[in-house]
Amino acid sequence: MLRVGLTYDLRQDYLDMGFGEEETAEFDSPRTIEGLETALADLGFAVERVGHVKKLAEKLVGGARWDFVFNICEGVSGLGRESQVPCLLDAYGIPYVFSDPLTTALTLDKAMAKKVLAHDGVPTADFVLLTDAAQAKAVTLPFPLFAKPVAEGSGKGVGPASKASNHVELEAVTADLIRQFHQPVIVETYLPGREFTVGIVGEGKTARVIGIMEVIFDTAATANGYGYDNKQHWEGKIGYELVTDPEAVAAGDVALAGWRSLRCRDGGRADVKSDAAGRPHFIEVNPLAGLHPDYSDLVFLSNFAGWRYRDLIGAITDAFLTRHPALAARHVRAAA
Ligand SMILES: Nc1ncnc2c1ncn2[C@@H]1O[C@H](COP(=O)(O)OP(=O)(O)O)[C@@H](O)[C@H]1O
Ligand SMILES: [Mg+2]
Repeated sequence: MLRVGLTYDLRQDYLDMGFGEEETAEFDSPRTIEGLETALADLGFAVERVGHVKKLAEKLVGGARWDFVFNICEGVSGLGRESQVPCLLDAYGIPYVFSDPLTTALTLDKAMAKKVLAHDGVPTADFVLLTDAAQAKAVTLPFPLFAKPVAEGSGKGVGPASKASNHVELEAVTADLIRQFHQPVIVETYLPGREFTVGIVGEGKTARVIGIMEVIFDTAATANGYGYDNKQHWEGKIGYELVTDPEAVAAGDVALAGWRSLRCRDGGRADVKSDAAGRPHFIEVNPLAGLHPDYSDLVFLSNFAGWRYRDLIGAITDAFLTRHPALAARHVRAAA
């Protein structure tokens, strides 16, 4: 039986260390760890809980080894925070599920990711990066514009003030975001059209879309985007619908092109939004997408597509094993 280490950032571990609610919004709940542990065991793996990067480091130094690691750590500090576990595992020659250090770092920085996407011809909104609020005065992109922290997730920093209609509003929101998140602000052309989130498994040529979900903003939704409040308190505000119309299919194609361009692996989710003409543009990708069994978007999407939680985890580990034929040969998948 293949031995799998599970690396994760348990939210409570970080709350105990004094981190705040919003700072730890992306971290994992006990339910996620239990869900993953059960699904991996059901798929025929012997699972060991490892925990966050420092626990992984201690165990590695102590001599612990696994056939592979299922890694969902997002880390706490630096632009390499999502790359720390992959780097450590690369150093010890232990294979892991999900993307490598280059991709996790590149996709965490939305501006750098968009430069690569633009090079590969993947449609994405024009943008500028502001490191100082005063720079907002000199922005020449046409309004309205959309401002958000360059390297956050879970809708942090996205809310009513994110959409700016003039230089005064843009400068104000930029100042607030820099003060709150201590990082540059990415300012993009505002995309007013439909929003989709696309689930993907696999990598490169074999990557495939598992479902395209439209994010529908009800009248009770908090203004201007699928931000922190709408994500945390989605009931009554946000509706989700599996969609297959031509615009949705085009959104799936854009998501897949971006997934390949950024060399994402195994499984995740890409966010896409249309312009006024209904043309989908790549917003961002989550190569470490949330895997909460009851309310993560990727899980919703796969449920809509008829998959149980363990089917999703199985598709992800199958994609990983495709990259590691020697491990695949040793794995006996449990009956469904
Ligand atoms: N250029 C844009 N135009 C309009 N809305 C946007 C734009 N960029 C982001 N948004 C909105 O903000 C939300 C969060 O942005 P995103 O980059 O996906 O951040 P996160 O990593 O926090 O999910 C998106 O789901 C979308 O609703
Ligand atoms: Mg997003």
